[in-house]
Amino acid sequence: MLVKIPELLSGQQLDAVNSVLRRGNFVDGKLSAGRNASRHKHNLELDSDDETYAALNDVVMTRLVQHPRYLQTAFPARICAPIYARYTEGMAYGGHIDDPLMGSPQARLRSDISITVFLSAPEDYEGGELCITDSQGETAIKLPAGHAVIYPSTSYHRVNPVTAGERLVALTWVQSLVRRADQREILVQLDCAREQLAADNHTALAQVDIAYANLFRLWAET
Ligand code: NI
Repeated sequence: MLVKIPELLSGQQLDAVNSVLRRGNFVDGKLSAGRNASRHKHNLELDSDDETYAALNDVVMTRLVQHPRYLQTAFPARICAPIYARYTEGMAYGGHIDDPLMGSPQARLRSDISITVFLSAPEDYEGGELCITDSQGETAIKLPAGHAVIYPSTSYHRVNPVTAGERLVALTWVQSLVRRADQREILVQLDCAREQLAADNHTALAQVDIAYANLFRLWAET
């Protein structure tokens, strides 16, 4: 299940983030990749020791972790410190699956969910689509600046080569209270049904609420 979060960042927040990123020190992205992923990875990443890193997180991560759609679809237990990646002309990230464990050795988590926040406007670069393969086939994603996409870390994906301009994104990973993507999807569908029933003031709402709560309890791991 791919979930988009439109307008996670406002225009003002994007301007602030992009102006901070312009001052940042970027290093070879292979340094942060696992053995398998590093073979396919050709990009740059903001040095997490850079003085701009905390200021970026204050905007991007603060917005993300408070967003209702993130909370309702990811069921987050823990979230990773993000990566800010830059792709300039000729850079790409070939087909890969994200590492099963992410984060520093002191803050390691299981990656259940991957998140990409688009920081560049689509018209500022050519190519650079995030292509995700799931049971529905392949989807190419290139969202407006400030929008985000949430997808299962179990899915095979790549970033197409950037053929002109510059692509900036923020990436992070979530360990979910509900480990399996198919179970999360059922809960999301049931939650949509609850909203609809509530809007219709339907008498079935109480039963569906009970089913939702008990399924969540059955599948949640803390
Ligand atoms: Ni990836």
